[in-house]
Amino acid sequence: MSFAIELKSITKRFGSFVANEDVNLAVERGKIHAIIGENGAGKTTLMNVLFGLLQPDEGEIWIDGEKKVLPNPAAAIAAGIGMVHQHFKLVPSLTVAENVFLGMEIRKGGLIDHAAQIRKTAELSKQFGLQVDPTERVGLLSVGIEQRIEILKVLARGARTIILDEPTAVLTPQESRELFQTLRGFVAQGMTVIFISHHLEEVMEVSDTVSVLRHGKNVASRPTAELSKSDLVQLMVGRLVSFDRLPRGPIAGKTVLEVEDLWCRDERQLQALKGVSFQVRAGEIVGIAGVAGNGQTELAEVLSGLRPSSHGRIKLAGRDITGRSAREIRAAGVGHVPGDRLVRGVDRNASIALNLLMGRQDQSPWSRHGIIDRTYLQQQTKALIERFDIRARSPESTAKSLSGGNIQKVVLAREFTGGADCLLIDQPTRGVDIGAQESIHAEIMRQRAAGKAILVISVQLDELIALADRILVMFGGTIMGEIAGDRVDEEEIGMLMAGVVPDPHSQTVDTV
Ligand SMILES: Nc1ncnc2c1ncn2[C@@H]1O[C@H](COP(=O)(O)OP(=O)(O)OP(=O)(O)O)[C@@H](O)[C@H]1O
Ligand SMILES: [Mg+2]
Repeated sequence: MSFAIELKSITKRFGSFVANEDVNLAVERGKIHAIIGENGAGKTTLMNVLFGLLQPDEGEIWIDGEKKVLPNPAAAIAAGIGMVHQHFKLVPSLTVAENVFLGMEIRKGGLIDHAAQIRKTAELSKQFGLQVDPTERVGLLSVGIEQRIEILKVLARGARTIILDEPTAVLTPQESRELFQTLRGFVAQGMTVIFISHHLEEVMEVSDTVSVLRHGKNVASRPTAELSKSDLVQLMVGRLVSFDRLPRGPIAGKTVLEVEDLWCRDERQLQALKGVSFQVRAGEIVGIAGVAGNGQTELAEVLSGLRPSSHGRIKLAGRDITGRSAREIRAAGVGHVPGDRLVRGVDRNASIALNLLMGRQDQSPWSRHGIIDRTYLQQQTKALIERFDIRARSPESTAKSLSGGNIQKVVLAREFTGGADCLLIDQPTRGVDIGAQESIHAEIMRQRAAGKAILVISVQLDELIALADRILVMFGGTIMGEIAGDRVDEEEIGMLMAGVVPDPHSQTVDTV
C-alpha cells in the first residue's frame, strides 16, 4: 500500500492547550479520506500543520514516502500539497485566470502573458470538469464558482494531494454533488483528497476512509464501508444523537412578527424578494426552507435592518419597523444570528466576553453610567460559556482563536440572552458538530417555550423538521408553499424547493 501522506505522532500545542495529541494518520494515495470530529477536535489545526501553516511541536510528516519539514505553505506546495480553506482568498477585481495564477504569473518578456494564463486555466478546468470562464471577473460569481477557482489555484500549483476544509458548508446541495463529482475525478486520475466535513451523509457517500478526531486525538481510521452513520456519531461524540421532531407544547401567543408583501433587491440589483408575506406568533417556530440563494439570506437581512426593502411592511408586536436601522430593530426586540457569522456575527479580535457584551454595552446591568460592570460581565461570560458549551481556553480568548463551531455558539449565546421577543436565526448549526447541533436545537426549543417568536432559516431539511411548527418553502424570492411541521412530506418539500407546485388532483405537476 502506498501512502500519499503519513503523519507520525503529531502533537500541536497552543500554550498549555493541546490541540493535536500524538496523532497518527495515514492517507492512501488515490483515495478520498474524510476527517470528522466535534468542533474544536483539532481537524483544521492538523491540516494547517500538514500545509505548513503551523509547526508541530512533535512528530513527523511524510509525503509520498519521504520525510519532510514544512516551514511554510510554499514548502508544502512544493511537496505537492494544496489546501482549499473554508474562507476564500480571491481578489474580486481580477479575472478567474488572473486569480488562478496570482503570485505565479506566466510571463513573456517581463509582461504577464494573459493569453497563456487563460489557455492554461481553460485546460485545467476541462481536465477536471470544473466549469468556469477564465476571462470572467471574480467579483460577482457565486460561492460555488469561487470554490472552483480556489481548487484551480491549487491544481495550477501542481498539487497531488488536495485538502478541503469543510468545502460543502457554503454550497447548495446541487453544488455539493458537483464538487463530489470533481473529487471522484481527482482520485480517478491518481490524486489524493482529504476533506473535513460535519455532514455525515456526505462522508458516507463520498469517502473511502474516515478518520475521527476527538479532543485532539485520532480515535479511529477505518474504511467507510465498514461503518454506519450512527457508528460515526458514536465515535465522534461517544453517544447516540437523533434528529427526530422535537416534542413541544401548543402555540399560545399573539402574532409578534408580521411581514406584508416584502420586496427587495440584491447586490446585482436583481429582485431577491418578490412579495413575501407571513406571520410568526409568540411561542412559534416558523422554518424557511429552500435551496440557498432563493432569497432567504436577503429576507433575514431586510428583517434585521441590514438591507433596505423596496416595498412592503414589517411589523413587530403591531409596531411598524419598516426601514429602521439594524440598531433600532435590535432595540425594538429582534435578535439576529447571521448566516455569515465570521463577517457579521463577531469581532474576531475581541475576547469572548466582549463579543457576548456586544450590542448591550450601554444597558444595565451590563454597565452603569457608561462604565462596564466587569464583575457582572465575568460572571455572565462564565455562565454562558457553560450553558452553551463553548469550548475555549478562557473567557479572554479571542474569537479568532476559537474553532468555527464555537464561534457560532458565542453568537447564539449573545442573541438568545439579549431579551429579544423575536429571533431571526439564519443557519443555526452551520459548521456545528452533531453533538452541539443537538444542544443548539434544545436551546431553540427553550426559547420557544419562553414565548419567543422564532424564524429559522436553514438549508438542512432535517433541522427544520426537528424544529419548525410550520415550514415555508422559498423559491425565486417568493414563498412557494407552506407545510405543517408535523406532516412533512419530503418529496412535496423537494418539489416546492425546485419551484414546482405539486397538484393534489393529478399525477402531473405545474411548473411556474
Ligand atoms: N491560533 C490558535 N491559538 C489558540 N488556540 C487555537 C488556535 N487555533 C486553534 N486553537 C484551538 O485549538 C482547538 C482546535 O481547533 P480547530 O480549529 O483545529 O478545531 P476543528 O476541529 O477544526 O473545529 P471546527 O469543526 O469547529 O472547525 C480549539 O479549541 C481552538 O480553540
Ligand atoms: Mg475547523
